[in-house]
Amino acid sequence: MSAAPKVVLGVAGGIAAYKACEVLRGLTESGADVTVVPTEAALRFVGAATWSALSGKPVSTDVWTGADRVPHVRLGQQADLVLVAPATADLIARATHGLADDLLTNILLTARCPVVLAPAMHTEMWEHPATQHNVATLRARGVLVLDPAVGRLTGADTGPGRLPDPAAIVAAAHDVLRRGGLPDDLAGRRVVVSAGGTQEAWDPVRYLGNRSSGRQGVDLARTAISRGAEVILVAGSMDVEPPAGARVVRVVSAEDMRRAMHDEAAAADVIVMAAAVADFRPVAAGDEKIKRGDGPQDVSLPLTQNVDILAELVAKRGGAARPVIVGFAAETGSAGKDVLTLGREKLARKGCDLLVVNDVSGDKVFGQTENEVVILGADGSELPVARTSKAGIADAIWDAVVARQ
Ligand code: CTP
Repeated sequence: MSAAPKVVLGVAGGIAAYKACEVLRGLTESGADVTVVPTEAALRFVGAATWSALSGKPVSTDVWTGADRVPHVRLGQQADLVLVAPATADLIARATHGLADDLLTNILLTARCPVVLAPAMHTEMWEHPATQHNVATLRARGVLVLDPAVGRLTGADTGPGRLPDPAAIVAAAHDVLRRGGLPDDLAGRRVVVSAGGTQEAWDPVRYLGNRSSGRQGVDLARTAISRGAEVILVAGSMDVEPPAGARVVRVVSAEDMRRAMHDEAAAADVIVMAAAVADFRPVAAGDEKIKRGDGPQDVSLPLTQNVDILAELVAKRGGAARPVIVGFAAETGSAGKDVLTLGREKLARKGCDLLVVNDVSGDKVFGQTENEVVILGADGSELPVARTSKAGIADAIWDAVVARQ
């Protein structure tokens, strides 16, 4: 692929068109060469001047402008990605049926690159059998149709139909560009990913917690969705938003996470414990705030160990082939043992199928967008993954999971 990937950003006529400005910014700031193709209706919400100023390119909606350059064929043929955000019910219907009554739908017919649609519409329109049928048809054709977010719509009503978070749309676009395609090798699989840190209550205002942005878990969830999986994200405290299309189960403590993971494990094909689970919790969480008191004084806090959720999930599986269970090992190297030796020992102790070993000495991982890992297999395999984005690491983990199926 060229240094600057060519992206066509289609914008259909819905109120969420204004949020596509942010999607456009996200794409251009990361170096993509973006051509915006709004529909006529989209221009009623956001004018052509905004799109051309933000993209640095002229904008047209019909196939007649600049017909000598045959834009309806050229733009689709040359694109590395066609992304439509927002995709309205009408645009989805036209795309499904191969209509070509404006520039954007012509491009959708001529494009041979991956196509990603980010829907936004009222709940009734999203849930209508016509739209659901169209979405299923597009997905069966290999189009990535993100699930809309749930929340406040144009008026006072709420429900599924909101445009996914612009940052999540941009991240999904980056996944596709990085892979150069849309594999569906997790289609039909139910994947449960834990992410973020747990918080162990000490008193009503204080807790013990682990450092974790939740980024690696969210990237695992998003990349699994775009590979066709149904994803449940069991989320502790995170600095990042969950991806569009995941069912999110919010948890606070290690005990909450333990319960949620057991509930979800029963029907899972794959489980990934990417969460930073607190190993210890205060023996008793007080109902009253502990007062500072007067003057200096030492405070001691009795702790007790939390259950090892990963090891428990492995034990629960017993001899069954499913679910495939993946753990993470955050290591610094200690007692004369290097990170990989400690990882091997941990893999044997936990009994999981794959262990993603992470060197967390210094500030190499926490809160960073890049990472470098080794994926150890229970079969003795060892797969180093060179420094790359956490989304790239996530895809390498899914490759390793798929290779085991
Ligand atoms: N884990 C878990 N339950 C816990 C602690 C950890 O399920 N109570 C999981 C983590 O999500 C991770 C793996 O176990 O997938 C390894 O976590 P890590 O903190 O590296 O290992 P620990 O088991 O805590 O061992 P140690 O701290 O002694 O290295």
